[in-house]
Amino acid sequence: MQTNISNRCATAGGTGIKPLRYAGGVLQMLDQRKLPTEEIWLDYRDYREVAEGIQTMVVRGAPAIGCAAAFGAWFGARDIEAEETGDFLDRFAAVCDHLAASRPTAVNLSWALQRMQGFARNHADRPVEQIKIALEYEALAILEEDERINRAMGRHGQELIPDPARILTHCNAGALATGGYGTALGVIRAAVAAGKQVAVLADETRPFLQGARLTAWELQRDGIDTTLICDNMAGYLMSRGLIDCVIVGADRIAANGDVANKIGTYTVAVLAREHRIPFYVAAPVSTIDLSLADGSLIPIEQRDRREITHIGDIQLAPDNIGVVNPAFDVTPARLVTAIITEHGIATGNYPVRLAELVNCGG
Ligand code: MRU
Repeated sequence: MQTNISNRCATAGGTGIKPLRYAGGVLQMLDQRKLPTEEIWLDYRDYREVAEGIQTMVVRGAPAIGCAAAFGAWFGARDIEAEETGDFLDRFAAVCDHLAASRPTAVNLSWALQRMQGFARNHADRPVEQIKIALEYEALAILEEDERINRAMGRHGQELIPDPARILTHCNAGALATGGYGTALGVIRAAVAAGKQVAVLADETRPFLQGARLTAWELQRDGIDTTLICDNMAGYLMSRGLIDCVIVGADRIAANGDVANKIGTYTVAVLAREHRIPFYVAAPVSTIDLSLADGSLIPIEQRDRREITHIGDIQLAPDNIGVVNPAFDVTPARLVTAIITEHGIATGNYPVRLAELVNCGG
């Protein structure tokens, strides 16, 4: 087991991994289902295909699916044949509804689509063709802003990371899950850039293995000391004093600070509390849903049984076995030491502090 701090060759600025690129009316998505063994870029020009790419996890991670959906909305808008603005806006709303239905838990998806629709409505005095052109720029703005947001989050969050630090993370809240740099992994990258000695323990994250396939891949590319563990090893390592803090991302944060994130996050938070280890969440303010009073109201996506019964083409479980596959769980706010955003850090009193961070940016 590798628990030594040995990140001397880490690429402090990051290697510039990005899951999405856009040029000439074509969105390219790095097919995250194929990583780490194959790096395949798929082309998208149609909003229905983008919705399918989100649903089937070609692209995943809350901010990244928001960015992809913004381009999907632009493709849908571009293909609407309407002369009258009201007609265009109605049909654009149907495009956005289709994209929003692709995955229910991450609020960044509907946040990005609402931003695109709000932008179109605010330009309703212009001819339809001009609204369409402006929507392409708005999708690009959403993508480009996301990396800047993550870098700001990293600057705030790295202050919480001790030096040296052995950090546990769950799922992939990295460059691959965002427009670039990452949320939880952005904080880790920023700590490395600040000269701290950081070693990461990455939960493999059953069933989709985002930790094993994606977090391990992108941190290794950046030269950050990373050790892969099975999900059920975290408690043992904590009990041996081998983890200093936990940092994860989020798919939706309710107004009271309850956090929906990848299934298994709640278990890690309970273990962290038992062992008095700080449990940090890093997420942009677009992940905070002030319309939901608490985490019990967050819709939890149920995914296909095959993600549990098979790995690729290999069958692990008997035919017809009963399976549940909730993709996310909810960690109660009382287990969360701090929530790190691009506008600052909330440490307790979440109902007040999260509203401040969302509404006044400070
Ligand atoms: O099902 P996924 O892979 O989309 O789940 C992703 C997560 O749970 C991430 O931790 C979360 O989206 C934060 S990403 C910055």
